[in-house]
Amino acid sequence: MADVILGIDLGTTNSLVAVVEAGRPRVLTVDGGPLLPSVVGIDEQGQRLVGHAARNQYVAAPERTVRSIKRQMGKSDYRAPLGEASYTPEEISSWILRRLAEAASAELGADVRRAVITIPAYFSDRQRQATLRAGELAGLEVVRLLHEPTAAALVYGLQRSDAETTLVYDLGGGTFDVSVVELDQGITEVRASHGNRELGGDDFDALIVEYLAQQFERQHHVDLRTDRLAMSRVVRAAEAAKIRLSDHPYAEIREEFLVTQGGKPLHLEAELSRERFEEMIEPLLAGTVESVRRALKESGVDARALDEVLLVGGSTRIPRVRELIAEELRHDPRQDLDPDEAVALGAAVQAAVIAGHGVDAVLVDVCPHSLGIRTLGIRAGDESDDVFVPIIRRNTAIPVSRSERFYTVHPDQDTVAVKVYQGEEPTATRNTHLGELMFRDLAEDPDGGLREVLVAFDYDINGILHVAAVDRRTGRREEMHLHTAALTEVAASGSSLPPEAAALLAKLRALQPRLAGSPDAAGLDQLIAQAETVGGGSGAEGLAAWQEAAGGFLFEHSPEY
Ligand SMILES: Nc1ncnc2c1ncn2[C@@H]1O[C@H](COP(=O)(O)OP(=O)(O)OP(=O)(O)O)[C@@H](O)[C@H]1O
Ligand SMILES: [Mg+2]
Repeated sequence: MADVILGIDLGTTNSLVAVVEAGRPRVLTVDGGPLLPSVVGIDEQGQRLVGHAARNQYVAAPERTVRSIKRQMGKSDYRAPLGEASYTPEEISSWILRRLAEAASAELGADVRRAVITIPAYFSDRQRQATLRAGELAGLEVVRLLHEPTAAALVYGLQRSDAETTLVYDLGGGTFDVSVVELDQGITEVRASHGNRELGGDDFDALIVEYLAQQFERQHHVDLRTDRLAMSRVVRAAEAAKIRLSDHPYAEIREEFLVTQGGKPLHLEAELSRERFEEMIEPLLAGTVESVRRALKESGVDARALDEVLLVGGSTRIPRVRELIAEELRHDPRQDLDPDEAVALGAAVQAAVIAGHGVDAVLVDVCPHSLGIRTLGIRAGDESDDVFVPIIRRNTAIPVSRSERFYTVHPDQDTVAVKVYQGEEPTATRNTHLGELMFRDLAEDPDGGLREVLVAFDYDINGILHVAAVDRRTGRREEMHLHTAALTEVAASGSSLPPEAAALLAKLRALQPRLAGSPDAAGLDQLIAQAETVGGGSGAEGLAAWQEAAGGFLFEHSPEY
């Protein structure tokens, strides 16, 4: 453990720490979860707060709270006021770093003091120096500063093959940047980087807050914006609604007893549709697409020449973001790794390489084919009743729940057939049919409009797809369960092994608990250990032999294989 090097993503909004253990990168727990809010404060008693506690007091006590300090890094005359005192950006950042290092040391059971820290590709020399200084103040030896887009590319395993040109689109909480990165035999070069240092999820939250405040003002003639405590609740509710809209077509917002008026409590009750939310943020997203164009232009790379497009940053979970990028670049972007963990995991991979430790796959269970339903729609300019609408897209990490809304064809139609398919063909019947749910007695729309059905897909870790149809007017729901064990696959990234071999390795590892204590356990352990050497340099022959042996072992011991 003593030679472990931490990988740290020191973000504007959230920070994370990751390590490679037994060849696998993973994010460690800080403050009860993977993300530590990059917020620092002092409480009423003068105690220092870092993370969630500081974030929670921000709206109510901004004079005792500092957020987004990353934006101030490198400004030599900047001081962040915090209660009576004020601090340099390096000092504030060092508290966040120390908290991460302490949590990591506690979880690993060793005092770990070396770290790789990620920085945006556009950071100037001063900003880099400031980051190094923050590390030093935190008692860390910063063995390398690593560009965030490079970290993302590393964890996706793109350093493995020949030259690759990758576009990394990173939309986080407070900053947006897009980089064109060239990777060749482990050497990476950021060819162009563009962005907006003042754009991210916080701005989307602010738009929802404004929408809610306006609605509240119309209803109750009360201006919430002047009430700090009420606003802190609205801001949190807005972010929660935004996150829900990434997977569902509607979000309810309810905050009871938000304010009182003449002794009477007032509640906030609203509903926001994904459509309306997308309209709100569309101008901001259009700006990011403009940056993508500029970065490509500056790098002299044509969109068609891109090998991969990676989406990182929590805000890329918004489906419209993915859609816009796919349309603009005509490239299916990759997002199978958790977008807010990718940079930290990449830092851990770099750290392990520096420490001389082997790294194999980052393994995630994904659904290997898109899952969706057959609908009536327009295809190639013509109306067709055989259009495939994906609800869960290929390579989405599981478990996952998503829902979408659909309408009947006629206002008087009271039955719909939810026909479930898997595949990538735009024509539904060219895909594999999985099942069908007849949903009857749909309630009439009071205005005589089309009736609305929500279709929810819930894909669990056991490979079972739960399909529900919900009458939007009454909330009545019907379900069916499709057993799709064969639908799950392991996506391998970042491995020195090719994907097929990495998938075999994952299946071997999955067998370990079941064979523990049996006479075959030793053989299994040996195969797993051998994977490291075949990944290294024993050549194609060694690899082929290993794959054969692994396949044989699985065939004998694993009923699903
Ligand atoms: N499912 C989701 N849908 C939409 N937005 C989400 C979702 N999950 C997280 N977010 C948003 O992602 C943002 C945080 O992203 P992330 O953790 O990548 O930021 P960061 O790396 O700290 O910021 P930056 O890149 O600006 O330094 C927050 O605004 C959060 O609300
Ligand atoms: Mg980030």
